[in-house]
Amino acid sequence: MVSKETILPDRAFALELLKKLRLPISIRLHSINVANKGLEIAENIRKVNVDTRLVEIGGLLHDIGRTRTHGFEHALIGGKIIRERGLPKSLARICETHILGGLDKEDAKTVGLPIKDYLPETIEEKIVCLADKQMMGDREVSIDARFEKWFSKYGKTKLLIKSRERIKKIEKEIKVLI
Ligand SMILES: [Fe+2]
Repeated sequence: MVSKETILPDRAFALELLKKLRLPISIRLHSINVANKGLEIAENIRKVNVDTRLVEIGGLLHDIGRTRTHGFEHALIGGKIIRERGLPKSLARICETHILGGLDKEDAKTVGLPIKDYLPETIEEKIVCLADKQMMGDREVSIDARFEKWFSKYGKTKLLIKSRERIKKIEKEIKVLI
């Protein structure tokens, strides 16, 4: 028997789940845009295999934790929701690693999360993290523009500067795979 932990749900299931858990409509729309942007990035990659379904469904579900909180913990809570529902761990990892450019132990301490790395490692995790930074709500933006917005809101903090560099590195890494 194939367990549901290894089977990716489809788009309709993911959208229905977001609706059922009452994720605000604006975040649902953002999630659809992140999924679509992620698919666009994934489809351009030629040099490595990318699980495009995982990118799509991961993009749709990456902010599922926002059904409970909009703080940094939404990443961890999202992972927990996915795991509790017996959905694939690969989706939980996408939730847990999508914040800023991913968080290392030092960043996790700074934002008050349990101290460990939450860094995107697989190509699918990196693509969703990047696509999320390129979509501000439903608008496509550059990484610099995305971070400028955060700088004006939270100040030019070490955490944000470090994250911007990390996501730019991921963007470059992905570019060479096209
Ligand atoms: Fe998020």
